[in-house]
Amino acid sequence: MSTNKMWGGRFQSGPADIMREITPSIDFDKRLWAEDLAGSRAHIRMLASEGIVPRGDAETILKGLAQIEAEITGGQFAFKRELEDIHLNIEARLAELIGPVAGKLHTARSRNDQVATDFRLWVRGACDRADQGLRALQQALFAQAEKHVETIMPGFTHMQPAQPITFGHHLLAYVEMFGRDRGRFTDAKARMNESPLGAAALAGTSFPIDRDATALAMGFARPMRNSMDAISARDFALEYLAACAIAATNLSRLAGELVQWSTPAFGFVRLSDAFTTGSSIMPQKRNPDAAELVRGKTGRVLGDFVALATVIKGLVLTYGTDLQEDKERVFDAADTIELCLAAMAAMVADLTADPAKMRAAAEPGFPTATDLADWVVRVLKKPFREAHHIAGSIVSRAESQGVTLDKLPLAEMQAVEPGITGEVFAVLSLDASVHSRMSLGGTAPARIKEQIRYWRERLV
Ligand code: ARG
Repeated sequence: MSTNKMWGGRFQSGPADIMREITPSIDFDKRLWAEDLAGSRAHIRMLASEGIVPRGDAETILKGLAQIEAEITGGQFAFKRELEDIHLNIEARLAELIGPVAGKLHTARSRNDQVATDFRLWVRGACDRADQGLRALQQALFAQAEKHVETIMPGFTHMQPAQPITFGHHLLAYVEMFGRDRGRFTDAKARMNESPLGAAALAGTSFPIDRDATALAMGFARPMRNSMDAISARDFALEYLAACAIAATNLSRLAGELVQWSTPAFGFVRLSDAFTTGSSIMPQKRNPDAAELVRGKTGRVLGDFVALATVIKGLVLTYGTDLQEDKERVFDAADTIELCLAAMAAMVADLTADPAKMRAAAEPGFPTATDLADWVVRVLKKPFREAHHIAGSIVSRAESQGVTLDKLPLAEMQAVEPGITGEVFAVLSLDASVHSRMSLGGTAPARIKEQIRYWRERLV
């Protein structure tokens, strides 16, 4: 059995067959090819500028790398499992193309700083993609919110009718949430934007390299200060996964709303045919599969975070091959979150709200009982606790008569609290209730319009 031509100098025989199964990462880390080429280009240019590698050799290497890029993008590159990973695949192909001079590329570099660099570049790009996906979803929510500033629906707490709100208000709540999700990706990106390249195996190198130059060439803000940290750190990936897990969790709540709102029992929204599926047995069905899948996939994104955190837990510095387990979890979370964001944005953009159904659902359950209590406080100067009790007794009378509060005869109210006058009816309708909630961030359409103005400047 032959030894490995990349690192087999001290070996008499090759690896056991099972090692060929467990060692390779090429099947998944081939996704790092563009980042690997970017890192190699920055590195070889720097080696030439510093006089570590002759310029002519560097030119030859850069030409070879360009050829490799063309082969990969053209689908002609043969990825080989026996070459373990993307780094060795590219290096081996470079040697085939330009001969032994290819070996100069790995001067003052190790696969350890190479993989840390490639992966950081990849995750940095993934932060941007997540941000864009979230922004597109915010835009879809915003466009619907703009149409429904005045559309009244029941607001729930404990899934019980609480107070009337507007659909626009509800949707803008998610615009806020996804705005914070974007902030988490932006923060994570800023923190991870430091270059590990030049840390070499773990301790740095004896060659007079210029780490600032390579960092700059790859768009990093600066080189990482500590070579051992540079090799070991994967908290950037954890931070990305944490941001994905939180975003997926937020997404699952919106997904849950869509599932609920679109069931005929609610009928608040109709998802388009494009985002529903039928049943093989029940001809009437319009299942909200995409929303359910978005909700369900939250589990796997959370799992990705937990899996990588568990890999890293207790891992001593610096590199251990355990770290090779970092990529699949991140790729899976990235693919999942990007897919879910795109599906959600499209579903939201495509849905049709049913304001009549929403209003009808807001009528029962005495959602203006708080308005009644507030009126008693404001006009009759009662302490709120007492007013709460009065309103509760009036609700119970309305309930036994089977009417809403604004249809209950005044005499019934006066039987509970003689001070109540006909003026009270002005606050008991759904519209009056909604329009009265003028406190900052409240559901009054005038306040919603402020939020619309705020987000228009930022999203449109
Ligand atoms: N395939 C490896 C990974 O994904 C690259 C780094 C390997 N370094 C090493 N010394 N074995 O982490």
